Amino acid sequence: MNDFVFQSPTKFVFGRGYVDRTGAEVKALNAKRVLLVCGGSSARSTGVLQRVEKSLADAGIKFLELGGVRPNPEVKFVRQGIDLARDNRIDLILAVGGGSAIDCAKAISFGVPSNRDVWDFFEGRARIKKALPVVAVLTIPAAGSEASGSCVISNDALQLKRGVNGDVFRPRVAIMDPEVTFTLPPYQTAAGVTDMICHICERYFSGTGSVPVTDGICTSLIRSVMDAARTVMQAPDDYDARATIMWVGTLAHNDLCGCGRATAPQKRAGGWESHGLEHEISAHNPEVTHGAGLAVILPAWMRHVWRAHPERFLAFARDVFGVEPADQTEEAVAQAVTRGIDELQGFFVQMGMPRTLDDLDCGRDEIDAWLRTLRRNKGERFGEFMPLTMDDARAIYESAF
Ligand code: NZQ
Ligand code: ZN
Repeated sequence: MNDFVFQSPTKFVFGRGYVDRTGAEVKALNAKRVLLVCGGSSARSTGVLQRVEKSLADAGIKFLELGGVRPNPEVKFVRQGIDLARDNRIDLILAVGGGSAIDCAKAISFGVPSNRDVWDFFEGRARIKKALPVVAVLTIPAAGSEASGSCVISNDALQLKRGVNGDVFRPRVAIMDPEVTFTLPPYQTAAGVTDMICHICERYFSGTGSVPVTDGICTSLIRSVMDAARTVMQAPDDYDARATIMWVGTLAHNDLCGCGRATAPQKRAGGWESHGLEHEISAHNPEVTHGAGLAVILPAWMRHVWRAHPERFLAFARDVFGVEPADQTEEAVAQAVTRGIDELQGFFVQMGMPRTLDDLDCGRDEIDAWLRTLRRNKGERFGEFMPLTMDDARAIYESAF
């Protein structure tokens, strides 16, 4: 087990009806003027927004709304939010939504106290030192942003999508009320579950060998969320299954699944190869849902790299799907590994996720553009499980059509 530093400082307020506690939680942080950041229309049409507004009003908190964050949020919108927050002397950013609203809120939170353009942080030209407190009311379990130290923002003009990491903008409080996810369309539920499984896999398939306690947490979370996902596809308002999905989404990405696997104590475990490859697709095509892109890329990446450490893939196939090789011959190992990957991809597809990049309406003629920005983001080689060259990346993209 490698050395690690694990901190998950977010306070989790998890349960039925807990959206109504938002005002009290915000008040406990001594906030006076709140910027409420939310997405397109779901928060209003599901009634969550009205409940949050009432709860803030009941707690005597003044607030201003910034609605309209799009999925794969864009830096121009973040800049608008920063201006609004400064003009109104906002002292806390409250996100109501999923990864997109929360990441937008995070970027506003560290943009406000800085005199740099916010994109400078994503280019590595400035370091994030301060941030306003962020509180998240989670309405879609997926990205894990409610407890992660990550913030992912797109820049359409540069066709880039980039993440920054830091602890200062981790949400102070995450309000997690599984009942508000009953309204999620099956596609968004499935994309969210795919994303969280991928967050676990990025860490599980790091370059480090087996770490039994962490491996056990990883594979148990994957099995639990797969069961729960199958349940909600039949019964969207099954509370326990929705609650399971919601909590797995958090644990998948608050770094618990990486303890002992990172190559340096402060570093996040894993090489994040599938996320790196997917982010290029959704940067160039913002209408591609992050989780749906991953449903295609993760199995394609697995098929390309498993031979670098077959024992990890054998353990994955055994512990998640109960697949064992008939014997230790090369052929039997290949069969078991491939079955494990097929099972995972079969699950994604069964849930309504795409199998190929054609299903996402991407064209092979886009690969060169993805590789151009991938190289810019990652350099000539990236990844840990098996460092990928740009030729590997091309082969993975091509195999995914
Ligand atoms: O925009 P509205 O109308 O609110 O609709 C949203 C959106 O269309 C809808 N939705 C949310 N809650 C709902 C609901 N519909 C019905 N009922 C509800 N209760 O769901 C759609 C997707 O929302 P979004 O916030 O985009 O989803 P997600 O949580 O998957 O976030 C994706 C973003 O997070 C980034 C992704 O790259 C992407 O930009 N990520 C952030 C990470 C982080 N900060 O740690 C890590 C991830 O790997 C990821 O990269
Ligand atoms: Zn993700």
